[in-house]
Amino acid sequence: MKLTEQQIAEFHDLGYLIIPDCFSPEEVALLRDEAEAVYRLDRQEVWREKSGAPRTAFAAHTYNEAFRRLGRHPRLIQPVEQVFGEQLYMHQYKVNAKAAFDGEVWQWHQDYGTWARDDGMPEPRAMNISVFLDEVMPINGPLMFIPKSHRHGVLDAGHDLETTSYPLWTLDKDKVSTLVDQGGIVAPTGRPGTVLLFHGNLVHGSAGNITPYPRKIVYLTLCAVSNYIRKPTRAEWIAHQDFTPITPLDDGCLRELAAQQKAAAE
Ligand code: SIN
Ligand code: MN
Repeated sequence: MKLTEQQIAEFHDLGYLIIPDCFSPEEVALLRDEAEAVYRLDRQEVWREKSGAPRTAFAAHTYNEAFRRLGRHPRLIQPVEQVFGEQLYMHQYKVNAKAAFDGEVWQWHQDYGTWARDDGMPEPRAMNISVFLDEVMPINGPLMFIPKSHRHGVLDAGHDLETTSYPLWTLDKDKVSTLVDQGGIVAPTGRPGTVLLFHGNLVHGSAGNITPYPRKIVYLTLCAVSNYIRKPTRAEWIAHQDFTPITPLDDGCLRELAAQQKAAAE
């Protein structure tokens, strides 16, 4: 899948781009079922909220076939290759649950702030491309972005080890207020199958989910191969150290798996 020049210009201007209806209902149904199966696993990669509800499943592409295929899907790999102009490797992979009633906050942060400080990533030549597995609504803890905040480079941040189960370099309230005065806040919503990509320096966060509606989103963090991490401090399954360039699979790779599973069940 190729981005148009207008889409690329919008991404550079605002720091994010929404692509609706990128994956079909059938493809998303497969991924949603597989996410639920992954959350039931008792593995170190599956992190939980204080309530025990799932928070995030790291590295699901290494132990689940559907997520392996999604991690090499041409509809996700090609647009990011286009933006960076080179091949990519997988820096991080998360299936975030934002569980109904129990999904907790992600504080205001920049992703590249963490990749630079904790992983020794040289440049912000990595970004998240995400796929909505549930409907993302204004009420179920959507991602919130401060448009154009990616233009400020890496901002000062403090290491928050306590608010949630996931340590994060977070921005202070004064800085967030100043940025919001300039750029406002948007919360992109959309149907399951929507794709959202955003710059590594875009300031973002999300509130808790107290609704009965889960908000699962898969995040592939794709890094330009030349920008591989130099000083990893985190576990390999959080910040990967396999810098092999990703070769995309065929566009039908998820449809084929769904058909195989259906045939096996009959
Ligand atoms: C993230 O910022 O990495 C995740 C935020 C979310 O899923 O709400
Ligand atoms: Mn983030």
